[in-house]
Amino acid sequence: MAAAGRVKVGIIGSGFEADIHAESFRIMPEAAEVVAIASPTQGHAAALATKYGIPRVFSDYREMLREKDIEMVTITAPNYLHAQMTVDIANAGKHVVCEKPLCMTLDEADLMIGTCKQRGVLLMYAEELYFTPKYVKAKEMADQGAFGKVYLVKQSEKHFGPHAEWFWDVERSGGGVFMDMGCHGVAFCHWFLGRPAIKSVYCQMDTHVHGDKTRGEDDVICVIEFANGARGLVENSWARRGGMQDRIEIHGDKGLSYADLHMGNALPTYSEDGYGYAVEKAPTTKGWTWPVFEELWNYGFPQEMRHFARCVRGAEQPQATGEDGRIVLEALYAGYQSAGTGARVSLPFRPEGVRIPIDLWKPREQ
Ligand SMILES: NC(=O)c1ccc[n+]([C@@H]2O[C@H](COP(=O)([O-])OP(=O)(O)OC[C@H]3O[C@@H](n4cnc5c(N)ncnc54)[C@H](O)[C@@H]3O)[C@@H](O)[C@H]2O)c1
Repeated sequence: MAAAGRVKVGIIGSGFEADIHAESFRIMPEAAEVVAIASPTQGHAAALATKYGIPRVFSDYREMLREKDIEMVTITAPNYLHAQMTVDIANAGKHVVCEKPLCMTLDEADLMIGTCKQRGVLLMYAEELYFTPKYVKAKEMADQGAFGKVYLVKQSEKHFGPHAEWFWDVERSGGGVFMDMGCHGVAFCHWFLGRPAIKSVYCQMDTHVHGDKTRGEDDVICVIEFANGARGLVENSWARRGGMQDRIEIHGDKGLSYADLHMGNALPTYSEDGYGYAVEKAPTTKGWTWPVFEELWNYGFPQEMRHFARCVRGAEQPQATGEDGRIVLEALYAGYQSAGTGARVSLPFRPEGVRIPIDLWKPREQ
């Protein structure tokens, strides 16, 4: 295995997020190069390989793991596959980048973390909000004391629902919008505040508009109480019309800051006939729209992938690990339990026999 030069990367999956990973390595190519891609939907994998000049294509990721030169593998498959894939990658002696949410259950999280430790490989958790330039700036200012004692951190991520069918199937996703995007908000608040322990989680959730296609929640409000006295407020929705929203608010006793990821980095635009592309999940490009530029850069994906590659070379320490993903998952468990009981749930929270997190809110009909 090469110990110098660009890290050789394999990508599992060829859908939405696989494209983002491939494009991210293209945007910041100095630390890594994608040499292979594996996905059962071979047409997609081949198309992505052509688009990004990826030389090797596999339909079974286990075949790709036999390639000796590959050092780091990124997982962009549906949530229910993350744990098995991580174990297989680690057993092949390769470093792992796993997309959010880390996995379906805390048992899986422990298995993933344990196996990677045992095999001496890194388990890196792909939470790009730790690398989002605007949010990094807010954290830098907070750490410099700009806001005094921060007592409230808010993160909100909303759109009208995901692009692929498996997200709606809780057996494969683990839950609805809280599982899908609440994981970003929990991770963000925890990271922003310097990773204090989570004391409790309180949630309310509902399925307002998509009950015809999912038993998952499509709207949620979550309050997180941290051991340092601060609170996090996470809002997520798959019921929001008008495209994507991702924003934060930071409140301290000496100041505050707001950041809107999309509106602030956009060109207020009016077009009678529309144009090519505005922003992720935008329903139209006609009328008034807010097209973004350098979209992936503004999210932080290229910076995130470059960081992970540099970690493989020992040049940086992972800023987002399996342990972070596990902390987030425990808070998600607590949030679903809270929504089910109506009560605040204290952590540590480790219920037995959880199959998928959403069962803690809305048990499966027998
Ligand atoms: N960080 C983010 O902001 C972000 C954004 C979108 C998705 N994601 C995460 O990325 C993951 C994938 O989401 P997506 O939107 O790309 O979904 P998608 O449906 O667009 O793509 C999923 C891909 O996984 C592949 N796949 C399915 N079974 C497989 C198998 N057995 N082996 C190999 N590949 C397999 C599919 O063929 C498909 O190419 C999810 O965990 C999701 O939560 C993260």
